[in-house]
Amino acid sequence: KVVAVIMVGGPTKGTRFRPLSFNTPKPLIPLAGQPMIHHPISACKKISNLTQIFLIGFYEEREFALYVSSISNELKIPVRYLKEDKPHGSAGALYYFRDRIMEEKPSHVFLLNCDVCCSFPLQGILDAHRSYGGVGTMLVIKVSAEAASQFGELIADPDTKELLHYTEKPETFVSDLINCGVYVFTSDIFKTIEGVYSQIRDTSSNYQSATRSAPVHFVRLDQDILSPLAGKKQLYTYENKDFWEQIKTPAQSLKCSALYLSQFRQTSPRLLASGDGTNKKLMIVGDVYIHPSVKLHPTAKIGPNVSISANVRIGPGVRLISCIILDDVEIKENAVVINSIIGWKSSIGKWSRVQASGDYNDRLGITILGEAVTVEDEVTVIGSIVLQNKTLNVSVQDDIIL
Ligand code: GDD
Repeated sequence: KVVAVIMVGGPTKGTRFRPLSFNTPKPLIPLAGQPMIHHPISACKKISNLTQIFLIGFYEEREFALYVSSISNELKIPVRYLKEDKPHGSAGALYYFRDRIMEEKPSHVFLLNCDVCCSFPLQGILDAHRSYGGVGTMLVIKVSAEAASQFGELIADPDTKELLHYTEKPETFVSDLINCGVYVFTSDIFKTIEGVYSQIRDTSSNYQSATRSAPVHFVRLDQDILSPLAGKKQLYTYENKDFWEQIKTPAQSLKCSALYLSQFRQTSPRLLASGDGTNKKLMIVGDVYIHPSVKLHPTAKIGPNVSISANVRIGPGVRLISCIILDDVEIKENAVVINSIIGWKSSIGKWSRVQASGDYNDRLGITILGEAVTVEDEVTVIGSIVLQNKTLNVSVQDDIIL
């Protein structure tokens, strides 16, 4: 038997996702029309002998209740939300729920960060792990040397794939091979974490003040487990050759939405909209997701990289490019939305324009409208973040509207 654990974190962690994370936990914000966390969950479903999926976090239980019950029904596999009373760190959280996780005595436990976007080659990781042995195997990928410092950098033996050295977000360059935040472990991982806890207890007061900035109940997988275990024939690496991105900001989520949409082309083409409606020819360009409840005027032109959630109304002549439109939004005639995320229940007036500033790339601001924002007719919103319940009747650029 195999179980999977997805770390969802909690409300204090989602601040870079504001204003979208004000009313919705970051892991439930849709990418390619499905909650962020849906993508790793459906990848877990493909692992042979998977019996349960646990989401561990410190959000209120009610925030996940509806999603957890609907996804359990849909996939026919139990998905449970386990709530920590306070953050324990990624390894600490796993350890805190060890009895629940090990209830059915699984031979392997997958551990996934919720905020990564990839094709999750989980069966490949498990098969590789079985051939390597040891406590665990982690997914790794090569990135540019400049990008590497935002992640855990590591060195692996090119032949045996053993993890030889690991440093979390180092200030000086170590390696362009980085940690993707996806692991498989045997039950021995719990003994390893237990070992770290007893070390903390033994040396408690001076240890904490000298070398540990985190509280004693807090154990991080990267610094506290991976670094000390490297080079001990306990941890191995599996290189990802497919796409991988981290999802820490709304701009990254727009990019990840595009990656998942293009993955749908291979894995679930039925989720992508096509130009041929039942009786009309719709103007669809590239990869586009449109929820079946959307009311789309046939003269609107949509795509590429657009995902449109439930009950959205799109008027005549509307043009949408590279954007995420959340539930219950209305976009009125001849409005244009490019490189933006439009929050739930917002409304965009006739001939209005909502877009990123300049030549959009990861660093320039995309526009994000929070929940229930009204952009009046003929108003332009460029590279701005607009908090929930605001009404814009004048044009804004590179601004934050509080
Ligand atoms: N339940 C719970 N409790 N989840 C947590 C906690 C906690 O106390 N702390 C973090 N998480 C979750 C986050 O929500 C996220 O999904 C994951 O654990 C990792 O978050 P961080 O510990 O903040 O690390 P990071 O995302 O900056 O970097 C980690 O992931 C990168 C890959 O995306 C590191 O492992 C890097 O080395 C790695 O490259």
